[in-house]
Amino acid sequence: MIEPLVLAEEKGNKFVWLSIDEAEMDKGILTNQYLLTVKDKGILMDPGGPLVFERVYDTMQKFIKPEDIEYIFLSHEDPDIVSGLSLWLSYCPNAKILISDLWDRFLPHVGVDIKINVIRIPIQGMEINLNGDELKIIPAHFLHSVGNFHLYDPITKVYFSGDLGAAVFPAGKWYIIVDDFEEHKKYMEGFHKKYMANRKAIELWLNQIQGLDIKIIAPQHGSVFEGENVKKFIDWLKSLDKVGLDLLEEELNSRSA
Ligand SMILES: [Fe+2]
Ligand SMILES: [Fe+2]
Repeated sequence: MIEPLVLAEEKGNKFVWLSIDEAEMDKGILTNQYLLTVKDKGILMDPGGPLVFERVYDTMQKFIKPEDIEYIFLSHEDPDIVSGLSLWLSYCPNAKILISDLWDRFLPHVGVDIKINVIRIPIQGMEINLNGDELKIIPAHFLHSVGNFHLYDPITKVYFSGDLGAAVFPAGKWYIIVDDFEEHKKYMEGFHKKYMANRKAIELWLNQIQGLDIKIIAPQHGSVFEGENVKKFIDWLKSLDKVGLDLLEEELNSRSA
């Protein structure tokens, strides 16, 4: 088990990466879970399913009591994000779920009662108050899911980017902080070209983040971008001319050829 890492600490806020167990590497795509604490209250981001629950829950308790989790933020609906939700709600009884208003109706299928404790995020995003801190929920639709959101904390200036910025490593390779961006690109390229919907979705997201002072980008898979690498990552995304649907036709034709 790798130790958790406090990515940023500012004015009573702590943004924490909740570790990884190397044994997970052989089982499925590696996932990152994060906790933001604002003094004694907290929000969990994409806490994941049964594969990681024990590790995430134990690590979280080094920083906060489960009853002080006020929100569980779900960037979208994938199993690596929502499949442990009923477990999480039983251990964090005061948590309210934040999810797109396009995806809440699917949660009863993972055993969650959506009549209580669900805050539906509208297409334009919203702000939420955590112990006095105004967190911004930023629209990032079709990157890759319809009804897809990111979370930005204006105090630590950390931006949780869900699947955007994800990297998939070959066996035996892994690191949590990006050091050499040029080297790191090759682990992101295939994922973004396959999973992100199209170039237009990237452009709309770039408009959404204009003016945000981002010091760290923390994705749900792969590695964290700090300092200069934040700008390098955004520039790299701008340089992707075609992703997803932009490439589908030629990909289908090449397979049938
Ligand atoms: Fe996803
Ligand atoms: Fe994911």
